[in-house]
Amino acid sequence: MAGIVVFGAGGRAGRAVTEEARRRGQRVTAVVREPARYPGLGADGVSVVRGDVTDPGSVAGVVGGHVAAVQAVSPFSGPEQGFDSLDPEFFARAADALLEGLAGAGVHRLVAVGLFANLVGADGRAVMDDPAVFPVEIRPFALAHAEGLRRLRKASGAGTGTGGAADVDWVMLTPPARLEDGAPRTGRYRLGGETAPDDTAHLSYADLAVAVLDEIEAPTTHRTRVSVFNSGAPVG
Ligand SMILES: NC(=O)c1ccc[n+]([C@@H]2O[C@H](COP(=O)([O-])OP(=O)(O)OC[C@H]3O[C@@H](n4cnc5c(N)ncnc54)[C@H](OP(=O)(O)O)[C@@H]3O)[C@@H](O)[C@H]2O)c1
Repeated sequence: MAGIVVFGAGGRAGRAVTEEARRRGQRVTAVVREPARYPGLGADGVSVVRGDVTDPGSVAGVVGGHVAAVQAVSPFSGPEQGFDSLDPEFFARAADALLEGLAGAGVHRLVAVGLFANLVGADGRAVMDDPAVFPVEIRPFALAHAEGLRRLRKASGAGTGTGGAADVDWVMLTPPARLEDGAPRTGRYRLGGETAPDDTAHLSYADLAVAVLDEIEAPTTHRTRVSVFNSGAPVG
């Protein structure tokens, strides 16, 4: 395999994906905005490079020669940071830049990490629209995420076979609300549809990474968004 490029490789999901790829013997180009901030990220098979996922030129400069790209970026690490300075177009710009850069470089697979709040709840509303489940102050973040998904879907509608963005075979894997940092890798997960899994659902970042790598090595899901989760009591 020619290796994968991971945007957001210094973050929680990006580190887990990088680790899972290494475990499988894959080469990783780990994209971060400021390599000096991540002195421990480079390792055997991992090249750390500077890049900005929202900048089409930057994306184009790093994706060539890879078999797939992973979008594991977030402008915020948690609600405690606040959302006052959130760019509502962040995920849209990331989607556009990735589609353009990947298509131009002939990289056809993109696996993006989604947000549970964008899944559909039991009552048919998006989870983000239910203030009892999702805090209203975080809703702008969910809306920004949803716009990124909309851009991916829009590109797919343009018709494949043109060598353009529509030829990028993307999937968005959406974890449950309980996405657990530091929880163990079980190697197990389930893929669902557009509906949010029930309250027992959980997932470790490590198992999210297993799903991401599986969808690169043996894709099962194309040009759509699905949930990814484990059910029942957390393992460990
Ligand atoms: N339950 C859920 O649904 C759930 C829970 C958590 C996360 N998520 C989603 O999972 C994804 C990854 O989240 P995470 O928890 O791994 O976040 P994280 O730990 O905060 O990491 C995000 C990374 O994105 C990078 N980044 C930010 N802007 C960038 C840019 N313009 N170009 C390149 N990289 C950039 C940051 O790197 P630098 O700052 O170093 O550049 C950071 O390392 C996000 O889409 C997030 O919304 C979903």
